[in-house]
Amino acid sequence: MSGVQAVSVRGARRTFAAELAPVRALRGVDLDVAPGEFVAITGPSGCGKSTLLNTVAGLDTLDEGSIEVAGQRIDGRDEDWLATFRRHHIGIVFQFFNLLDGVSALDNLVLPAVLGGRRRRAAESRARDLLDLLGLGDRAAQIPALLSGGQRQRLAIARALVNEPTLLLADEPTGALDSAGGLEILELFRRLHADGQTIVLVTHSPDVAAGASRHVRMRDGLVEGDDGPPPAADESPAAATADAGAL
Ligand SMILES: Nc1ncnc2c1ncn2[C@@H]1O[C@H](COP(=O)(O)OP(=O)(O)OP(=O)(O)O)[C@@H](O)[C@H]1O
Ligand SMILES: [Mg+2]
Repeated sequence: MSGVQAVSVRGARRTFAAELAPVRALRGVDLDVAPGEFVAITGPSGCGKSTLLNTVAGLDTLDEGSIEVAGQRIDGRDEDWLATFRRHHIGIVFQFFNLLDGVSALDNLVLPAVLGGRRRRAAESRARDLLDLLGLGDRAAQIPALLSGGQRQRLAIARALVNEPTLLLADEPTGALDSAGGLEILELFRRLHADGQTIVLVTHSPDVAAGASRHVRMRDGLVEGDDGPPPAADESPAAATADAGAL
């Protein structure tokens, strides 16, 4: 299985209908992400970052091109297939948390864990482990509205991790936080990366981008710069995580 990329995007094109002229959000994006990489994507507003992330998550579709995640083609699949695939392989974190407001922090994790196939007790134990890991162990019973922004985002990250996803995607996860809160979330991503988690994160923050192991810059629906392409296919995936110890 050596050489299987965590993400492989080829010739991705996506055009949205708009009143004046069609918006070409993706104009032929190629991107490979090796297992264990922590990739930050930056670029001006409207350049297609969220569109790219959403199509990799299977939340949006391509007009042309292909996307593989963990070696599986995800473009052209139906909703049921994608929902199952997402549940097992993809964790997503958004700018505004998208938590369930009516239930406790614990249940925000237990519910997706049960949907992911765990029995209630195993789900609860996984949820408690994650709350401890993310420094929310004493907030298990609290509803999200009573958590701080940073705590809510940590809970959203815990939820994204609950089913041990192959790929963690984050769209401006620090965008709603102050700079201290943002750096705290960045530290968390760096710890997850050091533990081997593959992460693709969209950000407007140069500080957050500098904390990733690789920086991809987009402009106008295309990748215009990439400071660290994935290792050659004959290198072991472990090489991609080797720099984590140097952080
Ligand atoms: N569902 C949609 N319908 C119509 N146009 C869309 C849709 N989604 C995105 N677009 C357009 O596609 C372009 C790319 O949008 P996208 O959200 O990917 O940008 P972005 O790089 O994430 O920007 P930002 O940094 O502001 O979040 C924009 O011009 C946007 O208006
Ligand atoms: Mg966006």
